Amino acid sequence: MKPIVIAIDGHSSTGKSTVAKKLAKELEYKFVDTGAMYRAVTLFAMRNNWLQKGEVDEQKLIENLPSVTINFEYNLQSGSNDVILNGENVEQEIRAMEVSENVSSVARIDEVRTKLVQIQKQLGEEKGVVMDGRDIGSVVFPEAELKIFMTASADIRAQRRYKELKEKGEKISFEDVLKNVKHRDDIDTNRKNSPLIQADDAIKIDNSNMSQEEQFEKILNLAKESIEA
Ligand code: DC
Repeated sequence: MKPIVIAIDGHSSTGKSTVAKKLAKELEYKFVDTGAMYRAVTLFAMRNNWLQKGEVDEQKLIENLPSVTINFEYNLQSGSNDVILNGENVEQEIRAMEVSENVSSVARIDEVRTKLVQIQKQLGEEKGVVMDGRDIGSVVFPEAELKIFMTASADIRAQRRYKELKEKGEKISFEDVLKNVKHRDDIDTNRKNSPLIQADDAIKIDNSNMSQEEQFEKILNLAKESIEA
């Protein structure tokens, strides 16, 4: 059976990565979390003090982009890929709320997108890949055999994210998480370069009232149909 490209795009905190990871495991495909790559560049900017309260020193970041390397490394313990920034495993750090608050400002910079899209194309070159993000079906792999667009109400997404962050011990209010979800929707949807849009041929899944199992089964069936087509 010939391997395909599966693009899973959609709003933040819709569980794209969870379902994409599970699907990749089931199909024995490679899994690429492209949001992790934008988060890693954000962390790079934060560590260099080029990013404060959503204000990025774009010039400094762009000048220093050539010295940024990003790749993934399989983590035996968690059974998934960790993101590696300039040789350092930053998988934990990139999930912090501070990174979430700043990432949309970095993801809208053209030069950052160009660099990361190029890496993403290389990672999916041989197909047999499940890639999740915002622009995979529209920009990175417009020819992907299966495109899914995931969404859910902002309130439900914030509830899920709040629970996750609380479990990790972050001191955060639900209102702040909801504000962050809405703010990211706004920037991701309205940015000039590769805004978050549903590709014409993408299948929309609103998972507001779906369990993780239901979503997975639905997407797995769609994937099997595409693979066999
Ligand atoms: O999926 P995530 O929440 O980890 O993504 C973090 C941010 O990165 C999100 O606010 C938008 C941006 N992003 C993007 O612009 N394009 C992608 N392909 C993936 C993520």
